[in-house]
Amino acid sequence: MFTDTHCHIYKEYYKNLDEIINNAKNNKVNRMINNGCNSASNKEVLELLKKYDTMYGALGIHPESVETYQESDITFIKNNLENDRIIAIGEIGLDYHYTKENKEEQKKLLEVQLSIAEKHNLPVIIHSREATEDTINILKKYNLKGVIHSFSGSYETAQIYIKMGYLLGINGVITFKNSKLKEVIKKIPLKNIILETDSPYLTPEPYRGKRNEPARILDIAKFICELKGVSLEELARITNENIKRIFDI
Ligand code: NI
Repeated sequence: MFTDTHCHIYKEYYKNLDEIINNAKNNKVNRMINNGCNSASNKEVLELLKKYDTMYGALGIHPESVETYQESDITFIKNNLENDRIIAIGEIGLDYHYTKENKEEQKKLLEVQLSIAEKHNLPVIIHSREATEDTINILKKYNLKGVIHSFSGSYETAQIYIKMGYLLGINGVITFKNSKLKEVIKKIPLKNIILETDSPYLTPEPYRGKRNEPARILDIAKFICELKGVSLEELARITNENIKRIFDI
């Protein structure tokens, strides 16, 4: 069985959540880590955990919300970390794709949340887009474990993150025809990667363009098995061991 280590399962994206959870189970995906990214989704993650026992949660403020989050949203996160199904701080990070003008605010928001993770001994789920250098420099200041979600960088960047103790989160991007990620992952040992969908985004080929869901982990897994010459059972075993090293699930 596989785990979707990064998804955004919220009602605004999925009308029938029971069906999504069942589809996952029917496709060998028996666990998922639902990532909050702002005040509303953090609250929803906590609600959904009560309903679905295959779901674990991460709480965080995504860099896209840097202009709109309130101090009380950070307090809310701190106040809900005692829940034993909240297993990480995420999705947090840096994103300079749309604007570099709020770089300093983004870094500050990231550091506040990394400090919370360190204090509570929780792993972090890191989003980094067009911000590799700053992400590495900031993560180096903290004693943390975690995952570089949606990793799509170079082999050299992968090596840096791995040496820092981070896993690489691999999703449908690896199946995209123009992606250079498969050449990088060919050279990376399986012990350094975990699988994720980033649902509802980044749907793997041949379903690209449709809404993604955790069941698609199986498509990503099959692609990686082909690439690395391993069986599904072997890939499931290794990635589940990797998950256990980082997350308390
Ligand atoms: Ni995400």
